[in-house]
Amino acid sequence: MSRLVIVSNRIPGKSPAAGGLAVALKKTLSARDGFWFGWSGAFAESPEKKARFETVDGLQIGAIDLTRSDHQSYYAGFSNSILWPAFHLRLDLTDIQSHWYEGYRGVNAQFADALIPHLKRDDVIWVHDYHLIPLATELRRRNIRNRIGFYLHIPFPTPDALNAIPHHEDLLNDLMAYDLVGLQAQRDVAAFNEFIAHEEMVRAGGGTPFHFDTGSTIIKAFPIGSDPDAFAKLAVSPNAQKMYKKVERAMNGRSMLLGVDRLDYSKGLPQRIQSYEKLLENNANLRRAVHMIQIAPPSRDTIKEYQIISDELDTAVGRVTGRFAEPDWLPITYVKRAYAQASLAGLYRLAKVGLVTPLRDGMNLVAHEYVGSQDPEDPGVLVLSRFAGAAEIFHDALLINPFDSDETAEAMRRAVTMPLDERKARWTSLMAAAREHNVDNWADSFLDALGDGGETRSTSDNG
Ligand code: F6P
Repeated sequence: MSRLVIVSNRIPGKSPAAGGLAVALKKTLSARDGFWFGWSGAFAESPEKKARFETVDGLQIGAIDLTRSDHQSYYAGFSNSILWPAFHLRLDLTDIQSHWYEGYRGVNAQFADALIPHLKRDDVIWVHDYHLIPLATELRRRNIRNRIGFYLHIPFPTPDALNAIPHHEDLLNDLMAYDLVGLQAQRDVAAFNEFIAHEEMVRAGGGTPFHFDTGSTIIKAFPIGSDPDAFAKLAVSPNAQKMYKKVERAMNGRSMLLGVDRLDYSKGLPQRIQSYEKLLENNANLRRAVHMIQIAPPSRDTIKEYQIISDELDTAVGRVTGRFAEPDWLPITYVKRAYAQASLAGLYRLAKVGLVTPLRDGMNLVAHEYVGSQDPEDPGVLVLSRFAGAAEIFHDALLINPFDSDETAEAMRRAVTMPLDERKARWTSLMAAAREHNVDNWADSFLDALGDGGETRSTSDNG
């Protein structure tokens, strides 16, 4: 079997944000020889072209530092102020500054330069996420003909949103430098095909679409998952139990509704609080019988839109607290901090309701982790947004439109009051789906489709 080279913006061991994916891919990587490559998390005075390698948890990790200004253009700028909002259909939140594109491509070129001295002819290269769309083009320009796959962890945009991204023509052609492009859900493949169909219609109508040809690139959905059986074990581990018992005491018999999300405007957090407010407004009998916990570690907080969503959430939580709290009962606990996975697994297990209600999301692994952590004899209920990729596989969650606070509040009420038999039946189906789509199957099926080592492109194909 040929070596595997994984490339992503963040590398394992340097940041908790690499989280579940890092755990999953570490397993795949240690089963094959190879290494992981990405940004070190540190800043350099001048651009670096040479990678540093170290062994972390038995894995070879290569990394480069970036200058602050390159990182600003590539990460906070083009990746997270243009691609992220546009791919999540929030064109109103994009901040288009044309010079960022140069930094974005420049960092991709630096990644290519630093990677190449460490590549072998038969290596299979697997690139992750929107930060690195141009990487295959940059590698092919430098005569790398290995098999290269790309996986997008966020949703693929609709044609209009894609058209609003500066240089989207280049980005689409960049995708075609890969042998395989993996998307999260059928919805995303449909969006990709819709864009192609739209361009063909423009061509047929005598218009001049940009030159675009999918060539030999395969575009396919590979819905990512977690390891639900590992979460089942983790949820009863000593650290999980510590958290479970502590919070169980604090709940004092009340039903807990739980949300765990990065503090991001795509997660629908103010809308979720508003729906909870409606639940309390419409169901006076539930007021002292429920409690919501929202955990939301801050994220990308140098970007203005992330500061705004943080303020909005502070306001929403304050509003609900002021409106419904009593001296001896609080409706909501809001925690702006990250927790270790074991503590989260304990909380997931205690929660009667798991709230996963993003406005738009690639997959959402919290939904998978919540399902995995449940007690089979007394499982909780998953309230899930139709706009998360997870909705394509979790048919027995209570599926909601997060923009509709009446519908979401009603789903919360149903979840809190659901009889045990129905909870068990729904959870059994969810757990079966989580197992079928577990992360090992995901990695295996992507790598099977990408194929084993060897050259895939002639020199003329290269960029
Ligand atoms: O879900 C998309 C994603 O970019 C992940 O790849 C990443 O782990 C997560 O969001 C956190 O984002 P960031 O790396 O910007 O902190």
